[in-house]
Amino acid sequence: MTEMMLDIRNLKVSIPTDRGLLNAVRGVDLQIAKGETLCLVGESGCGKSLTATSIMGLLPRYAKVTSDRFEMVGQDLTTKTDAKLAKLRGRDVAMIFQDPTSALNPTLTIGRQLTEGVMRHEKLSRSEAEARAIEMLDRVGIANPAARLTQYPHGFSGGQRQRIMIASALMGRPKLLIADEPTTALDVTIQSQILTLLGELQADLGLSLLLITHDLGVVAAIANDVAVMYAGRIAERAPVAGLFAAPRHPYTKGLLAAIPVPGVTPRGSELPAIPGRVPGLIGALRGCAFRDRCAIAGAECAHDPVPRISAAQGQFIECVKAGEVTA
Ligand SMILES: Nc1ncnc2c1ncn2[C@@H]1O[C@H](COP(=O)(O)OP(=O)(O)O)[C@@H](O)[C@H]1O
Ligand SMILES: [Mg+2]
Repeated sequence: MTEMMLDIRNLKVSIPTDRGLLNAVRGVDLQIAKGETLCLVGESGCGKSLTATSIMGLLPRYAKVTSDRFEMVGQDLTTKTDAKLAKLRGRDVAMIFQDPTSALNPTLTIGRQLTEGVMRHEKLSRSEAEARAIEMLDRVGIANPAARLTQYPHGFSGGQRQRIMIASALMGRPKLLIADEPTTALDVTIQSQILTLLGELQADLGLSLLLITHDLGVVAAIANDVAVMYAGRIAERAPVAGLFAAPRHPYTKGLLAAIPVPGVTPRGSELPAIPGRVPGLIGALRGCAFRDRCAIAGAECAHDPVPRISAAQGQFIECVKAGEVTA
């Protein structure tokens, strides 16, 4: 049987607001096998970041989280204490955030920031920890890594700082790496370099990778599977080649049509945007959340719950009309 590094069922995250309960994640299933790269895509506001932060246990205290299953690197986390979770996060699971500038402390040297965690979690000596930091900096493409340990973050470009954040995430030799739009804050030319680096590291180190990104070119290059998130649920999950060749959920189809895919979309062509916008997530949402924006929606789309059509193992589409979608 395939070893699962992440197995989450029916994850729900709700946030109390002054307008009522915001149901931002409304029953998400996410499974990532050992060595697998799953890309999570979807418009802004669909609950991708809250899903990722809940996996890391970094949600604000006032957020309400429930799930039917929550297993990570072979451990059941529904029964774990905060202290055990914190330990797991320092080692087996690591996360890379959107903005490297805010994640690095400007007053501490790179060496200090990279070594602190493993000296505490793994009881490494300073020189052992520094040796590992040099190894990781080298891996992520920082030249003269030994000499750079004594430098502060401001001595590095934005792209280099994100490389350092990746090195920092790798320090505990994680089995599962979560990256939430890790290149959004960077120049376009640097973005694909960083994403390509993540893909290479995943392959070299046999990591499981959950990558949230808008860059469908990179998704095409490094994903095994793609999960398309819409209004707090996974609308479709499919292997990357199948998803690009024949998206089955109307939302997936609209998303692929609206974003240029290098090498696929003809240069200079007009891209049709999906009309309308993501529905508000306060209160109950019944039936298909996409139906107001969907060209093929009908009366049956108001039925609740939306039927899930299972494809191959772990693959599914939540659309009553999936059979009618043409490529
Ligand atoms: N701390 C928070 N307080 C209130 N609302 C939040 C908070 N975090 C996220 N949200 C809301 O939850 C929804 C999902 O957010 P998010 O997970 O960040 O989406 P995505 O990453 O897909 O853009 C959005 O409507 C967002 O405004
Ligand atoms: Mg986000």
